[in-house]
Amino acid sequence: MNSTIDTILNHRSIRKFKNEPIKQGDLNLILEAATKGSTSSYMMAYSIISVTDPSIKKELAAITTQPYVEKNGHLFVFCADLNRNSIMATPEELNQMKDNLENTEHLLVATIDATISAQNAVIAAESLGIGICYIGSIRNNISKVDRLLKLPKNVIPLFGLVLGYPDHHPEIKPKLPIKALHFFDTYLDNKDIYPSIIAFDKQLNDYYSNRASNNRQDNWSNQMTRKLMSPTRMDVTQFVMSKGFRKK
Ligand SMILES: Cc1cc2nc3c(=O)[nH]c(=O)nc-3n(C[C@H](O)[C@H](O)[C@H](O)COP(=O)(O)O)c2cc1C
Repeated sequence: MNSTIDTILNHRSIRKFKNEPIKQGDLNLILEAATKGSTSSYMMAYSIISVTDPSIKKELAAITTQPYVEKNGHLFVFCADLNRNSIMATPEELNQMKDNLENTEHLLVATIDATISAQNAVIAAESLGIGICYIGSIRNNISKVDRLLKLPKNVIPLFGLVLGYPDHHPEIKPKLPIKALHFFDTYLDNKDIYPSIIAFDKQLNDYYSNRASNNRQDNWSNQMTRKLMSPTRMDVTQFVMSKGFRKK
């Protein structure tokens, strides 16, 4: 065990923060870490927006219905971004790259790049004693977030990341066992995955029924079935296409 592994294994999302901004030196280190990771074909196809304007924070918190999007030490929004990669091209070159840029492949490239950057920021933050929570619920109204942040064509908001000094200490949430998530050589037959899920359902039900706050009877399979039966953010496809991504 070393301190990096220790930081990673002790992750838990933090949703209540002290009323203190992140120290500027720490923020600089987090941004250094966020911008030094691997990146597909050296494209660096992501942007990070620090949301500091209280009125924009308030609007984002309303979209997410999560108070910690407003009350935190710092708020980032991570975007998939193919804007910088194409702005130096001539109109003829732009015309020639259009089909390629709009391929779903480039939506994946930019989303993966943004996610690598965010997770580097997370590890850096947590190693400094700063708590984090990813915020996918900004996509509850992705068009409004786009307008609030004045994102150009070829840039889409993916998720927020709230950071701050923790004001609670939740239990670590159990995760699926490695054997349900990691396979050798070929994908496992579903019948060989069931036992891991059944065991995990029991473990998660114990966790939910015993945890200090918001305890309930539930398990992972039921949670997933409920989640996937309820249509989610069905406007995202149209929005993504309107920004020049995934048209092919
Ligand atoms: C991309 C992404 C989006 C998320 N969006 C939200 C969110 O909008 N609100 C929230 O409270 N938690 C959000 N989470 C946190 C997850 O709920 C959390 O990571 C998961 O339940 C596991 O708990 P843990 O992070 O404490 O291990 C998000 C996580 C990820 C990776």
